[in-house]
Formats: sequence, structure tokens, C-alpha cells
Amino acid sequence: MGPKSMKSKLTSILMILLGTFVLTFSVACSEGLGTQEASSASLVKASADAPVEIESVTSGIPYPLGKPSALKGRSVYQANCASCHGTYLTAVEKLNWEAQKNLPQDQWSEVTKQLVSEDRQPNNPLWDRKVNPDFYSPDWRFEKTPGELFRLIETGKDRFGKMHPGPSGVMGEGWKNVLKDVRGTQLVTTGDPIAIWNVVFYVWSRSIAGASPTRFSEAWNVYSQNCNVCHGTLGKGDGPLHKSLQPLPFNFQNYKAMAETTDSFLYWRISEGGTWTSIPQSIQRTMTPEALKLYVHQWSSMPAWKGILTEQQRWLSVDGVRSRTYEHE
Ligand code: HEC
Ligand code: HEC
Repeated sequence: MGPKSMKSKLTSILMILLGTFVLTFSVACSEGLGTQEASSASLVKASADAPVEIESVTSGIPYPLGKPSALKGRSVYQANCASCHGTYLTAVEKLNWEAQKNLPQDQWSEVTKQLVSEDRQPNNPLWDRKVNPDFYSPDWRFEKTPGELFRLIETGKDRFGKMHPGPSGVMGEGWKNVLKDVRGTQLVTTGDPIAIWNVVFYVWSRSIAGASPTRFSEAWNVYSQNCNVCHGTLGKGDGPLHKSLQPLPFNFQNYKAMAETTDSFLYWRISEGGTWTSIPQSIQRTMTPEALKLYVHQWSSMPAWKGILTEQQRWLSVDGVRSRTYEHE
């Protein structure tokens, strides 16, 4: 531990002690939803062998009750979306490909060989990117909620009236009941909403894969060093200090709350901590009024991190929080 992180650690401990004495009032929000850790870093080819439960709803968005999986979303993506959006690789595949694409074949690494044998190389005309956004870019998702993306893909329209094409290329046509997913070695149409969640988190996670192969672990480190004490290793809000706090630290395994939250909101919230007076309009408009009312509490002992962590570390901690809500590479 360098002197800098030592200082930030000491400061955070001080903030925590202070925080526990802050008079707080608000409804505690912590739901003990099921937990499921990503156990393997390798890509899963067969999707949905252990289906995640979904909220049953008659209208609106059916939220996942367990962790959606970007790993399983990869094959859903390749089968349904790559024809317009192009092929996206894992961070490791991307790095390999960039270093090796001009080398003779006998010098390719195993990773690159595998990629080409699956016909997923980025210069493959079949999977060339024809439409925006570039999912590797870091900023396309900041003002989106995963829930709104789910709605856009499922129905062809989001709540702002934005349209997206379905399988026949028609704008405003949804993928509900026509999205293909892999079962064993077969491509089948399942109508299973979890396949939509998986593919939404797959494209979401491309923006982290696009940054660097170490982005996920850097995010994990920033979170572990600063946030574990209250929010817990898995983000369930059950860190060693949680019992002394009211409201309790946020449970990031409240998948519904997190699916209704934007990264720009998380960044603002992490920067300002628990003693803000109003949410800027520019942040408010990225979320629904219901989500702001249900999940956002004022006057808590959440420390303000803007004087403690750099801007870059705070964005990493956004990824750290978010990466507890889905399985990823
Ligand atoms: C027929 C071509 C086509 C297919 C197939 C397609 N998309 Fe798109 N997608 C587009 C276009 C065009 C846009 C840009 C729309 C715009 O900017 O208004 C887009 C935009 C998006 C966006 C960004 C939305 C936003 O709010 O910025 C996401 C996310 C997305 N697509 C996901 C998917 C997923 C997931 C699939 C597969 C299930 C898929 N797309 C299949 C054409 C396609
Ligand atoms: C001193 C304990 C403590 C520490 C340390 C702490 N938090 Fe919190 N955090 C809280 C409490 C308490 C809340 C308020 C919960 C609520 O509003 O329901 C909270 C709320 C949040 C929220 C708001 C979620 C929402 O949707 O409203 C985010 C995001 C968050 N914390 C992220 C972090 C990150 C990232 C770190 C580390 C950099 C961190 N927290 C460290 C106690 C802590």
C-alpha cells in the first residue's frame, strides 16, 4: 500500500467514524436478494442453462431477481445483433487481435486462433459494424439505465420515444419472443426475457472491455479498498460496519434498483455522498421520477468521495458497483 492509498484509507476510516454519528433519518432499503458470483472467467457458449428468475409482471419491465450474465449474452449478441452492430471481442481477445492481425497465421496466439476459427474476427465482412453507437466507447451508456435498454430491445421503443429495429430491420419492432438464444448447440427462439437482460449487459460490458483488459480488476480494487467496509464484498450492503448505520448501506444486489439507475447518477452520488441538498436537473432527467423517489435517500453516512478519490477513481468505483450487478468476463 503506497502512502497515497494509506492516506485515502485513513481519511475514509475517519469519514466512516464521523458518518456513524451523523443523525440520519430515512427508510432503510436493503433487500436480501439471491446472490450468484461469476465463477469462471471463460466465455460460456451455451446460454441459459441455469435460468435466472424474473419478476412476473403483467405490464412494464420484468426485472431480473438474480444476476444477469454478460457472458451468456455474448452468444445471444452474435446470433441477433452482430449483423448490424458488428463483432465485439473480450478485452483479452481485442488486445490479442490488435497485436496480431498483421502477423502470419503461424504466429497467432491460441486466443486469436480460437477467434478466427469461430469466424468472429473484426475484419470479417459478415460482422462489420454498420450502425452506431460504438459499444467499446466509454460514454454511450452513461445516461442510460439497463432497464431502458431492456425496454428498447424488447419493444422497439423506449420511454423517450427512441426507436430501434427488430429482426426484420423495421424501426420500432421489438425482439420480444423472437430473440434467438443458444440451447446446447442449437439456436432457438425462447421468448425468455433473461436472454434480453443478458444481451443488454453484454453490450454494456463492451464499454469496459473497450477500455482495457485490466479495467474490471482496477474497478474491483478501488471498490474493495474503499467501499467494502460498508457495502460488503459482494455489494449486498452487509460490510463489517453496516449494522451501525441508518439508513443501511445500499444493497447493489437490488437488481431492480440498479437496473433503474444510470452511471451518471452513480458518479454524482458517489462524489457527493449522503449529505447533498438537491439532485442536479442534468442527472435527474436520466432516471424516472419513481426510481429517484424509491431508491434515493438524503442524509445518510455515505461519505462524499470527491475530495478523497480522483475523478478517474470515482468512475472506476462506478464500474466497481455496477460490476456487482451482472456476471462478466
Ligand atoms: C437491423 C439492424 C440492427 C439490429 C439487428 C440490431 N440493432 Fe441495435 N441499433 C441499430 C441502430 C440503427 C441503432 C441506432 C439507433 C439510433 O441511434 O437512433 C441501434 C442502437 C442500439 C443501441 C443504443 C441505444 C441507445 O439508446 O443509444 C443498443 C443498446 C442496441 N442497438 C442494442 C442492440 C441489441 C442488443 C441487438 C440485438 C438483440 C441489436 N441492437 C440489434 C440497428 C440494429
Ligand atoms: C461509511 C459507510 C460507507 C462507505 C465507506 C461507502 N458507502 Fe456508499 N452508502 C452508504 C450508505 C449508508 C448509503 C445510503 C443508502 C441509501 O441511500 O439507501 C450509501 C449509498 C451509496 C450509493 C447510492 C445508491 C443509490 O442508488 O442511491 C452508492 C452508489 C454508493 N453508496 C457507492 C459507494 C461507493 C462506490 C463507495 C466506495 C468508494 C461507498 N459507497 C462507500 C455507506 C457507505
